[in-house]
Amino acid sequence: MENHLLELRSVDVSYGDAQAVGNFSFYIDKGKIITLVGANGAGKSTILNAISKIIPTSSGEIFFSGMSTAGLKPEDIVKLGICQVPEGRHLFTKLTVLENLELGAYPVHTRPFMKDSIEKAFTLFPILKERINQSSGTLSGGEQQMLAIARALMARPKLLMLDEPSLGLAPKVVSLLFKTIKKLNNDGVTILLVEQNVHQAMEIADYAYVLQTGTCKMDGHCHDLLKNSDFKNTILGIRE
Ligand SMILES: Nc1ncnc2c1ncn2[C@@H]1O[C@H](COP(=O)(O)OP(=O)(O)OP(=O)(O)O)[C@@H](O)[C@H]1O
Ligand SMILES: [Mg+2]
Repeated sequence: MENHLLELRSVDVSYGDAQAVGNFSFYIDKGKIITLVGANGAGKSTILNAISKIIPTSSGEIFFSGMSTAGLKPEDIVKLGICQVPEGRHLFTKLTVLENLELGAYPVHTRPFMKDSIEKAFTLFPILKERINQSSGTLSGGEQQMLAIARALMARPKLLMLDEPSLGLAPKVVSLLFKTIKKLNNDGVTILLVEQNVHQAMEIADYAYVLQTGTCKMDGHCHDLLKNSDFKNTILGIRE
């Protein structure tokens, strides 16, 4: 049997005495888009940060390509091929678009591909080419999100984790962003998408996990969940 690209088995994460994620298991296979949805405080960012080793797990196991990531540091995770675009983007706002992209190629093994990666970023996000020498703090919210994704791609990830990329963006910009995420996936990048924008996330994802207070409440193929009356009722708030 082939290994999953990423697998979490019974993961617990606590902040002090407060458990933020409890007994969470899930997996992502290569080539898919998986989405984690849930309200504020459900534990979505905590799961991404645990995968990235930004915060420790208190129990459970995490595997990438069949290998346990126990004991690894955040920089080892990037080297393995997992990149996270954090909530709030965290760009270097005084630096230009090009400088932000160049800094994205910080893992040594990605540097020889830097020129090629920048070309690819500009093909995926043509607006960034037009803004190449502009400081990133002067970009619109949508452009900044695109730059944050493009910068993560400079590290040539096998798995790209996006934490609420649509946050604060106008509906038209959100549609374009989601289309671009789908395109990126079609180009071969596996994606873990965390969203509060449940409906749109599920339109591009293959499979969804619904989190509530740190545990998985429901999961399923997006096309099934979108037809499921319990899901529509409790998660999407649609009464039939
Ligand atoms: N640094 C922290 N210290 C203490 N508690 C935290 C910390 N970060 C998150 N929490 C708590 O852990 C729980 C899960 O938070 P998390 O940020 O993972 O949720 P989320 O689903 O990403 O929410 P949002 O949609 O608001 O980003 C919440 O109860 C939150 O208050
Ligand atoms: Mg969050």
